[in-house]
Amino acid sequence: MPFADYTSQGAVAVITLKNPPVNALSVGLRAAIADGVERANNDAAIRAIVIVGSGSAFCGGADVSEFGQPVMAASPSLWDLFALIENSPKPVVAAINGLALGGGLELAMACHYRVAAAAAQLGMPEVKLGLLPGAGGTQRLPRLVGVERALNMIVSGNPVSARDLAQTPLLDATVDGDVPAAALELAERVIAEKLPAKKARDIRIDSTTAEAFLQFSRGAVAPLAKNYPAPLKCIQAVAAAVAQPFDDGLKIEKSLFIELMNTTESKALRHAFFAMRGAAKIPDVPAGTALRPIKRVAVIGAGTMGGGIAMNFVNTGIPVTVLETTQAALDRGLSTVRKNYESTVKKGRLSPADFEKRMSLITGTLSYEDIAAADLVIEAVFEDMEVKRQVFQKLDQVAKRGAILASNTSTLDLDKIAAYTKRPEDVIGLHFFSPANVSKLLEIVRGAKSAKDVVATSMAVAKQIKKVGVISGVCDGFIGNRMMNVYFRQMELLLDVGALPAQIDQALENFGFAMGPFRVADLAGNDVLWYIRKRLYLEYPDRVFSKTPDRICELGRFGQKSGAGWYDYKPGERSASVSTLVNDIVLEESARLGLTRRTVGDEEIVQRALYSLINEGARILEEGIALRASDVDVVYLTGYGFPDFRGGPLFYADTVGLSNILRSMREFSRGYQPDAWQPAPLLVRLAEEGKTFADWTPPTRGKT
Ligand SMILES: NC(=O)c1ccc[n+]([C@@H]2O[C@H](COP(=O)([O-])OP(=O)(O)OC[C@H]3O[C@@H](n4cnc5c(N)ncnc54)[C@H](O)[C@@H]3O)[C@@H](O)[C@H]2O)c1
Repeated sequence: MPFADYTSQGAVAVITLKNPPVNALSVGLRAAIADGVERANNDAAIRAIVIVGSGSAFCGGADVSEFGQPVMAASPSLWDLFALIENSPKPVVAAINGLALGGGLELAMACHYRVAAAAAQLGMPEVKLGLLPGAGGTQRLPRLVGVERALNMIVSGNPVSARDLAQTPLLDATVDGDVPAAALELAERVIAEKLPAKKARDIRIDSTTAEAFLQFSRGAVAPLAKNYPAPLKCIQAVAAAVAQPFDDGLKIEKSLFIELMNTTESKALRHAFFAMRGAAKIPDVPAGTALRPIKRVAVIGAGTMGGGIAMNFVNTGIPVTVLETTQAALDRGLSTVRKNYESTVKKGRLSPADFEKRMSLITGTLSYEDIAAADLVIEAVFEDMEVKRQVFQKLDQVAKRGAILASNTSTLDLDKIAAYTKRPEDVIGLHFFSPANVSKLLEIVRGAKSAKDVVATSMAVAKQIKKVGVISGVCDGFIGNRMMNVYFRQMELLLDVGALPAQIDQALENFGFAMGPFRVADLAGNDVLWYIRKRLYLEYPDRVFSKTPDRICELGRFGQKSGAGWYDYKPGERSASVSTLVNDIVLEESARLGLTRRTVGDEEIVQRALYSLINEGARILEEGIALRASDVDVVYLTGYGFPDFRGGPLFYADTVGLSNILRSMREFSRGYQPDAWQPAPLLVRLAEEGKTFADWTPPTRGKT
């Protein structure tokens, strides 16, 4: 049988879920389980039923790709299936052999008995997609594990191990060994002892303490409620479990679920979920491409980035050799790594034994001979083409055949760097973000000659070191920084016409950004951005920039590191306070330009910020720098603090409507600095055709 196997062992029917990788409850699997239950109930020789998963999962939950589609309600729906199981006259035992998440845990709870592997992870992650467990989860879980624990699981979305739930009515047994055998044994005992089909719905909730937990939870999640409607609705559904009869509670849960399903926030979070998964697919690089083994890594340069990059590999058990030019620089770099790990030990997140192990995996050297055996070399030296040239020419001489030679450059032409070697096919960009051991994003910069297996191996490396890899073509700033440069320029120009830095930051933080642009600049270093701007002034002499950021830099206000930037900072503190000096400079610049300052509303700030990102994103798509619109979103969600409940800049654009955006951009182009508002041809085309970025696929994908 596709989706599930049906077998019998004596008087017990065994339905084995077979829908890899995680037995998601797509319509096919739902039908197969329902068929199995009905067949067992129609067979006089069968007296009990076991439902068991296969592989590492019992059941990973609903099939998210069905959400919002008609197939989600196709018969049997989850609701039909769980009612069928719960009402089965023959007792049903869930054998939770592994992961049971969301609909998977709901499936188990609709059964009458449950046996779980002690290590199995059980959870209700729906809230992370802006939803609630909509097929009985909010009604059955509080009955089976108590209101407090159920609220924690449902509102946090975090899984709990079966071992920790062993003492609750949720689990009749937890075992370390063979789960199907234990479930079969329980089913035989149920038959022998004529035990009843226990229904979770029949359990009465003790409401005396429940209200206090509900109230506490409401207070805890209220601050999030503006941007994330799901947690409060989860609490509302659990409250219904406490106050209402089971069937009424189910109805309330279902209507809240449907309400959430239609929110933009849930749509955005679901988009982000698929976008992250989709980013690993590279159209012209087949999934089965043979990968180059990466067993030893070398990092060139032990500065801000090099140390963090090395830590990523050490954390997954891969030995790293770090190469520097001087012993002093090497010692400095390695001691920063040590301090980083020491602080993790102090916080209790790393054991002293693991600390020793990690430090033993990292070695320093001043000699290229010591990195000749590396399978992957990542260069993180100064951002200077001449230094990169020397490093890559040397690497070409010493690196073993087949080694991947990667550059962490942020701005330089990767194809030029590759051309310094006689093996450009082995060269690729691995653009880490600061702090390199923390930031989730890794832009994989595919050069004109990068070999397909080098690209595929880089994507696999990203996954191995727990990053989200996104493919970018070669251009100035790649996907993320190229868009960021345009956004910064817009926000700085807004200062000239009437806004102030704190107002702009606040407007964008209210929109949901982790930090507004001026706070970001103070963190990243205004000197770094100044350096980039100076290059842009030369390369794009017709582009108009605000002079204000340069004036800030001329005063040595480089940001947090120098104790002053767009904001003032007290020594040793990160909290920013408004600088009257900076505000005066902003006003002086407007006067110097002969501009009468006007009130700039928060809505205009958000529009100018977002539409500048979106417009550059459209150019990036059209030029084939990004493979798909959702990749641009992933870059912003994982590397730039873009709010996940907005789905990324291009998803957000689709929710606003491209023709609305185009109309606003045309209005902006009639104002100050019109050159910045030339709409990208792709944006115009899609808007005119009434299409979205999600509709767009490139004419010829990838490179051949
Ligand atoms: N700092 C960031 O936020 C960031 C983010 C992404 C990418 N990058 C890129 O990463 C690279 C490194 O940046 P960083 O911020 O770590 O710089 P850094 O100045 O902190 O460190 C560079 C290190 O390289 C060493 N070095 C210089 N020449 C060398 C050589 N020939 N051989 C070996 N080591 C050499 C220096 O001694 C120094 O320790 C640059 O290409 C930069 O554009 C930086």
